[in-house]
Amino acid sequence: MNKKNKQIQEFNSFNIVVFGGDGDLALRKIYPALFHRHQDGQFSKDFNIIAITRKTPNKEAFTSQLVTFLKATEGDKMKLDEIEMFAKNIEIIQVENQDPPSFKELGNKLNEHPDYQHIYYFSTPSSAFGPISRALKSVGLVNEKSKVVIEKPLGYSLASSNAINEEISEAFEEHQIYRIDHYLGKETVQNLMVLRFANNLFERAWDSEHIDNIQITVAESLGVEKRAAYYDNSGALLDMVQNHLLQLLCLVAMEPPSLLESDEVRNEKLKVLRALRPITKKTVQTETVKGQYTRGTIKGEQVNSYLEDIEKYQSKTETFVAVKAYVDNWRWKNVPFYLRSGKRMIKRYSEIVINFKEVRHNIFPSKEKLNNNKLIIRLQPEERIELIQMTKVPGPGGYRYKPIALKLDYSDSFKDRFPEAYERLIIDVIRGNQTLFMRQDELQAAWTWIESITDSWKSTNQSNILYEAGSWGPGDLILDEDSSWITKTWKEQ
Ligand code: BG6
Repeated sequence: MNKKNKQIQEFNSFNIVVFGGDGDLALRKIYPALFHRHQDGQFSKDFNIIAITRKTPNKEAFTSQLVTFLKATEGDKMKLDEIEMFAKNIEIIQVENQDPPSFKELGNKLNEHPDYQHIYYFSTPSSAFGPISRALKSVGLVNEKSKVVIEKPLGYSLASSNAINEEISEAFEEHQIYRIDHYLGKETVQNLMVLRFANNLFERAWDSEHIDNIQITVAESLGVEKRAAYYDNSGALLDMVQNHLLQLLCLVAMEPPSLLESDEVRNEKLKVLRALRPITKKTVQTETVKGQYTRGTIKGEQVNSYLEDIEKYQSKTETFVAVKAYVDNWRWKNVPFYLRSGKRMIKRYSEIVINFKEVRHNIFPSKEKLNNNKLIIRLQPEERIELIQMTKVPGPGGYRYKPIALKLDYSDSFKDRFPEAYERLIIDVIRGNQTLFMRQDELQAAWTWIESITDSWKSTNQSNILYEAGSWGPGDLILDEDSSWITKTWKEQ
């Protein structure tokens, strides 16, 4: 085994230090993920969890919040005593600001085990990433075994993203930086790799000769919740497309890597991102749509408009975005990738639909329409894969046929609990496997393409189309022929 492989499989003792340790993300995702991995006996080595807060630590309040969050996901299956036992592994340390003296207590704690790897998880606004990195370095808490996990948003533009990266790079090298995109930790997303590269059938037809279009949709019925300030600065394009949807597009469109190793995979994803056809002033109005939700009804309940939700009545931020993207390379010549994401949509669902071309010639006497095959990869709410194929309706006489789905429902086939995306990703960090994390050059390529959209929106002054909360989004309102792609097949699934 070469050194690189060995490094990936080692599970060293670790300290995980969570900055923003009493924040929503930490309580909702990070600690529950650690809890479940611990419960499953995956932490074979010693570990410490250190929550960094700016407020005076209050362990009792912290534990009760943790219980509430775990209860929300676990319901009746929750075992209170086990959570309380687990919470004993979490130490809360106050770090008031990013001055080196504030890090003294943390330093003492980490130095109790100088041989452990230190994992710093920055669950804070990105403006703090640079100052925290610098402070950790200046007090000697970064060594070659250290790792840093960072959450989006990694900037608001190519320049700001580069600036954040430069600051972090003063303390950490690229192989120590884990840029998390939780979509890559989802089971069905990983299954996409297995589906494509462990089966001969699909890969043979995975190109412009056989595929008509690809649709990637992430619809949410939720609004902006308590994140108004963040969301209003980002909008749907930066919040969802720049990262999650582009990463899904990469996995669908990339060439097979020669090995499942981090740089092999990331090199292939990078090629896809660099091949994205830029959106220009000329194409932006036909190839993108932005929308904003107005008041409406979701599951029988009246909900506010976006402007009411954020209490800023002039905001032009988009809560829905649709982009017709092209990957300009040999495999995908002129195959549209429809990317769509919106808040306050009719229901929560995420899926990737591969629409194959129609058969070349209809031999059946009735000449009834032969629907094209579709491969539907459903990520949410349930995880399943469906292959829609034309099937003969039983009975004598002529041929009648109709589309029937061949289904693989994950929950039927795999009865065990499905680990959350964060569980998988955090374990990968501990093991040092960067495959599911974005490399800096990928991020730059994603930003370059996204900026072609934001710049074109600005220069053409493209406005939002309003859509009612609880609807299918603004597609319904666009009657213009050129834009019919926005609704094309979108409600059929
Ligand atoms: C986050 C976005 O990255 O992903 C949120 O910031 C969004 O706005 C969330 O709601 C969606 O994640 P999931 O896993 O619920 O689809």
